[in-house]
Amino acid sequence: MHSNTPKGLEYTLRNCWDRTAPKYGQAGPPIFSISAQRLLELLSLEPGDRLLDVACGTGAVAIPAAKQVGPFGQVTATDYSPRMVAEAEKEANKRGLSNITCACMEAQNLKFPDNSFDALTCGFALFFFPDMRRTLAEMRRVLVPGGKVGLSLWAKGAIVPQWPILGETIKEYGLRPVVPNPIAWRPKDIEALLTSAGFSDIEIVEERYDLPSREASEVWEFTLSVGPIEVMLEQLPKNKRQEFIDAFLSRIQELATPEGIPANFRVLYIVAKARTDR
Ligand SMILES: C[S@@+](CC[C@H](N)C(=O)[O-])C[C@H]1O[C@@H](n2cnc3c(N)ncnc32)[C@H](O)[C@@H]1O
Repeated sequence: MHSNTPKGLEYTLRNCWDRTAPKYGQAGPPIFSISAQRLLELLSLEPGDRLLDVACGTGAVAIPAAKQVGPFGQVTATDYSPRMVAEAEKEANKRGLSNITCACMEAQNLKFPDNSFDALTCGFALFFFPDMRRTLAEMRRVLVPGGKVGLSLWAKGAIVPQWPILGETIKEYGLRPVVPNPIAWRPKDIEALLTSAGFSDIEIVEERYDLPSREASEVWEFTLSVGPIEVMLEQLPKNKRQEFIDAFLSRIQELATPEGIPANFRVLYIVAKARTDR
């Protein structure tokens, strides 16, 4: 398998998602559920649709999607982290949803026959896949011709000013990125990637949400719970890790207002169709 990811790292990243699973999306502003709702609104699923949610996490997109496709539709939610899959399954059971199936699966190697789904979603995950082109080609393969794909990605800046500050701190401590692709995207770059993977009718919207955090510690909990920052911190000797966190948080603390720590979340929603020529 072609991969841009250094040897061994994928395993470490997967472990990190496993550790994150029980707390994923629970600290800080509810950006993942807000974005999931918006993505589904833009995708306009039909009752009866068969939907695949790739890299489902704890089910932010898959669970509301299962309600939308209704009793004659079916949602298949996949993720390569067994604990994420277990959390998604638990959520689905809690809500009594019987039209959702969860499975542990690598996004670059979807274990479904061609033309299996009418629609496919992937929330905040494309940039984690070592070979994004291969994954998009897989997505197109399992979609029926004309089937819809809906992606959410961070737009340039991602969470302003928190993540640019995190980026500066990372640079200052000489840490190397552990995610194989840029986290934040420009619309024209994602459009080019989708076109070359065989998608057409590409629509991209950027939306921004002001969602302050209550305090600096919440910013750190949120940052820890949404990505592999812990894996990156392992590049530092143990005694330097806390120093890094303190340096980041003291900058975040300087932003504090009586309303909390400001944050402008910038999200790209992308909807496209699998081209009919294969
Ligand atoms: C930021 S979370 C997004 C979860 C969910 N889609 C959402 O919108 O909240 C990223 C997810 O991608 C999954 N992931 C990362 N790399 C993957 C891969 N190569 N194959 C499958 N899942 C992967 C992680 O386990 C994690 O659950």
